Amino acid sequence: MFQKKLFIILLVVSLVGCTKTKDPIESKIDALLSQMTLQEKIGQMNQLTGTGLSKDMLGQIKAGKVGSILNELDLKTTNELQRLAVKESRMGIPLIFARDVIHGFKTIFPIPLGQAATWNTHLVESGARVAAVEATSTGIRWTFAPMIDIARDPRWGRIAESCGEDPYLTSQMGAAMIKGFQGEKLSDPTSMAACAKHFAGYGATESGKDYNTTWIPELLLRDVYLPPFKTAVDAGVASFMCSFNDINGVPSSGNKFLNRQILRKEWNYSGVLVSDWASIEQMIKHGVCADLKDASRKAIQGGVDMDMMSYAYIRHAEELVKSGAVSEKQIDEAVRNILRLKFRLGLFDHPYMKEPAKMPFYSEDALRKAKQTAIESAVLLKNDKDILPLTHDIKSVAVIGPLSDAPADQLGTWCFDAEPSHSITPLKAIQQLCGSKVKVISEMGLTYSRDTNTPGIAKAVRAASKADVILLFVGEEAVLSGEAHCRADICLPGAQPELVAALKNTGKPVVMVVMAGRPLTIGKEVSEADAVLYAFHGGTMAGPALADLIFGNAVPSGKLPVTLPRMVGQVPIYYAHKMTGRPAEKIVMIDNIPVGAGQTSLGNTSYHLDAGDSPLFPFGFGLSYSKFNYTDVKISKKELSDGQTLQVTCNITNTGKYDADEVAQFYVRDLVASLARPVRELKGFQKIHLRTGETKTVTFTLDSDQLAFWNAELVKKAEPGNFQVWISSDSQTGKPATFKYL
Ligand code: NOJ
Repeated sequence: MFQKKLFIILLVVSLVGCTKTKDPIESKIDALLSQMTLQEKIGQMNQLTGTGLSKDMLGQIKAGKVGSILNELDLKTTNELQRLAVKESRMGIPLIFARDVIHGFKTIFPIPLGQAATWNTHLVESGARVAAVEATSTGIRWTFAPMIDIARDPRWGRIAESCGEDPYLTSQMGAAMIKGFQGEKLSDPTSMAACAKHFAGYGATESGKDYNTTWIPELLLRDVYLPPFKTAVDAGVASFMCSFNDINGVPSSGNKFLNRQILRKEWNYSGVLVSDWASIEQMIKHGVCADLKDASRKAIQGGVDMDMMSYAYIRHAEELVKSGAVSEKQIDEAVRNILRLKFRLGLFDHPYMKEPAKMPFYSEDALRKAKQTAIESAVLLKNDKDILPLTHDIKSVAVIGPLSDAPADQLGTWCFDAEPSHSITPLKAIQQLCGSKVKVISEMGLTYSRDTNTPGIAKAVRAASKADVILLFVGEEAVLSGEAHCRADICLPGAQPELVAALKNTGKPVVMVVMAGRPLTIGKEVSEADAVLYAFHGGTMAGPALADLIFGNAVPSGKLPVTLPRMVGQVPIYYAHKMTGRPAEKIVMIDNIPVGAGQTSLGNTSYHLDAGDSPLFPFGFGLSYSKFNYTDVKISKKELSDGQTLQVTCNITNTGKYDADEVAQFYVRDLVASLARPVRELKGFQKIHLRTGETKTVTFTLDSDQLAFWNAELVKKAEPGNFQVWISSDSQTGKPATFKYL
């Protein structure tokens, strides 16, 4: 009887298996793979940088030795290279053209860190869409973005490219960018394959020095560094890129645990995994491979599908297969992923990009979105006596500072295709906005951010003394952040601190705007200014955006996506820290220690004598010209069981004088757990618009899964006990409500 039942079950299972139709793309890949030589397969795994129509490149393409080309931008060249691949190589497989389109192609949006400060996923998605429309017109169908490395060290130059310190915010921003780049359908000619990078842990680079080693316990990796990548997989990201760093001694380009165990097995990912630039070869310098052949073996075994610029696969993969060091099955898996992407992009059907009658650059819509993003990315840190906006009777302003008229620097890092001649600087925008109504006096004071030549400061002071208000644009040049542009000291560079102090001494109100690629330690300068806007590098339209904010045509709504430290020695400093066994209580600052104090106890709690225990400004912080009141935090139930949800609501009233946007932030804390948990973790946010006097109720739904964390047994689980929740306007304020997870 039992055997008969088993037979029937097996019959049904096998019938279902037979009738399940295979994805047509997979069948096409099977057909191609069955006809490809080993060398042609390896050719697909080879990505080279564009060299135009060089003889060498043409020969390699015809021989089927190239799968993808990066950094080729001329459409005619691109189409010709494509023609060679499609018409003159034996298999006729199209190439994919790739480029780093990070925060815009021609129309440059704020740097990703600035975009994250908008907390506006729709806007961020629309920016990536603009970038895709512009970039695809030159034949680029693959961008190496978004960068979703968690960045908690502002010394690291690449923090500019990141969405900041928080896994949840980064996940949401990353998913929005992926949606924007990839559009509705990857096969649309204006869609680009996105790339989640850098996998993984690159932001944990020791001492904030690029490419440096990282030590990340698996729990931390899974709790903090991986969630944005998992969200990217769920958002359908078409590709991943390895990171340069080693994690606990294993470089990512040969990291089986990351690339095979987590990415492929646990997340079931079927997109392309590309190495970073020469990162396969760099495994030799890391000291884990003897030579390029060894590096090639390690990378293939480590699950890296495509070799960007190491020439490791093209030179050695064939002999590695022939000697049995790697299997042809591993090669087939990699090629399958690459061909799948080419099919999904529609490259087999439409390999060429039609030359548009007019290049779709700097459209009105693109500039409007870039301006709106720059507006929403600026964070108001201080506004004494409501000096901003300058709506009152002002007759003259002095526009000062090295960033006031720096068209290239306001674009920030990673925008190789941008044209600074299209940037509208703050000075130009303010002159335009003020017209003949307000006199604009301008004097840079310092010619660039690192300038230490102080005579200009005296001139700036003279100019300032003739104006009613000083508008001071300080910060960093674009070259001070980005890849391999790290700083050990993150102060305002050059003589800018002297410039701020000299302007403060004029007694005129100082509105300071900081345009930078990272958090800077500007405590002293903030205390000297009357108002401070932290604007990051705001892109092409930074000027008009800032002018609108300063003169009240727009109201600030940006919130910090990263903590601003008081001093570099506090780094790493982030809001989701652990409590410690001796949290800071009574703090004795260094200047208050009596002379001859000897071994006197200063409280024995966790703080720095010279910095205390608080940041300059916390994650999530940002003022408005209006005021918001959070009241009536309510929780739908006092107890939450597994698999259930609960609602947390709160009323937010705009009690100020301006219609404005506010970002309501939703945080959770696990009070007692088997492992010490962060003091708060962001689990949701909503950006809402409130007219003056208006009240809205915001509701956040908490799923019991959101309480889970990776425990010491490496199991992700929520633990029973009490939790606190907040709906607040930043990561430090608000009144918590409590519930129990059963
Ligand atoms: C190196 C960078 O780390 C990576 O982010 C970038 O995409 C590649 N170079 C290609 O330019």
